[in-house]
Amino acid sequence: MSKQKTWSDRFESALNPAIAIFNASIGFDIELIEYDITGSIAHAKMLAKTKIISDAEAQQLESGLSQIRTEYQQGNFNPGIEAEDVHFAVEKRLIEIVGDVGKKLHTARSRNDQVGTDIRLYLRAEIREIQQYLRKFQSALLTHSEQHVETLIPGYTHLQRAQPLSLAHHLLAYFQMTQRDWERLEDVYKRTNISPLGCGALAGTTFPIDRAYSAELLGFDNIYQNSLDGVSDRDFAIEFLCAASLIMVHLSRLSEEMILWASQEFSFITLKDTCATGSSIMPQKKNPDIPELVRGKTGRVFGHLQGLLVIMKGLPLAYNKDLQEDKEGIFDAVKTVKACLEAMTILLNEGIEFKTARLSQAVAEDFSNATDVADYLAGKDVPFREAYNLVGKVVKTSLAAGKLLKDLTLEEWQQLHPAFEADIYEAIAPKQVVSARNSYGGTGFDQVRQAISQAKSLLNT
Ligand code: ARG
Repeated sequence: MSKQKTWSDRFESALNPAIAIFNASIGFDIELIEYDITGSIAHAKMLAKTKIISDAEAQQLESGLSQIRTEYQQGNFNPGIEAEDVHFAVEKRLIEIVGDVGKKLHTARSRNDQVGTDIRLYLRAEIREIQQYLRKFQSALLTHSEQHVETLIPGYTHLQRAQPLSLAHHLLAYFQMTQRDWERLEDVYKRTNISPLGCGALAGTTFPIDRAYSAELLGFDNIYQNSLDGVSDRDFAIEFLCAASLIMVHLSRLSEEMILWASQEFSFITLKDTCATGSSIMPQKKNPDIPELVRGKTGRVFGHLQGLLVIMKGLPLAYNKDLQEDKEGIFDAVKTVKACLEAMTILLNEGIEFKTARLSQAVAEDFSNATDVADYLAGKDVPFREAYNLVGKVVKTSLAAGKLLKDLTLEEWQQLHPAFEADIYEAIAPKQVVSARNSYGGTGFDQVRQAISQAKSLLNT
């Protein structure tokens, strides 16, 4: 390790080697290098525009920075611990390449506004990527939905059979959840895309900088109004982690359902070999590792949200080194969310098959049409609560007799209530039960078809 010291001549000796390792972030913030270079090029251009440095100097800085980018992309720039962090690593390399003029780059800038700029540039790009992943996931949901409008699946409340559903309706619920996720990211993007560059260490700078210009070069929509806020704000990152956590909530709920559906007890889906795993000891096993992992990885994303909230809650203004701890959680959340969205998309596209025969048997073997009997009577002017009590009694006696509602004879129906007629059988047939729930947003096939066409046009815009 180099004994060279990093700090001003105030310091007489280098850091204790163990402390240098403890203090360094280069091991993880190298992830930001492309953004650091982009931010530095914009800063150099701004310095030239405001005549703080000459045009020729800015050009030298830019070409040196571009060279570092190439070196990095080609695997030839691998700064070690002595660089402390990505910002110093780039600056030191720049000075090696362009000489003393490289020492001018950090004029009117601090690592505090620099790191804030980098993390925003990084996150804004990743937000756009995650939105793409969400779109692919939604389109996989939509493909299944189009195939399964009239495939019925038991619907549950309290994990007890409640009312049957169109399978497409069930899947489209996840479409809506992930649509909100997409929109939430759109909103987080707005507050991420604001430039702190030029806020300096905390107080601004004595140089006649042009913050709006560097912000414009970097594609920021706005600049921070208060320099202290600019360097110490991580609200956007917390908001991002909230949005990421909700994506994981949604993926985890679907995972849980898939795990249940793949069990022998439910048996609603088959897992294909490309997306399932075996057991090292039980040869008969086919395990849903993919949704289990997604469900499991949800915890770490929640953890990163909690971690950053705790980092921020007691921080006095402005920058404190605690903020270096924001990065690993953000990076890991980004990677985890992308990996989980991709895995779930593949699982939907090629990893599962709905067992339609088993599903149609499932909806015919229970009392989930009981509400429809009550609705039938209510439609014949029997007050709903009265009808509800009566049907409860029918369910009780049928259960005792080992019968389903469809097995009752017309005589039996009419003994229960004279309003029953032969059309009761049609009214409680599973397909009819589902298609009749045609209220807006309901599971009726017409509603579902409309929902599919709306979802499609949303994906096409
Ligand atoms: N590596 C630091 C971080 O990630 C960069 C900013 C350091 N600023 C400072 N004043 N020590 O936060």
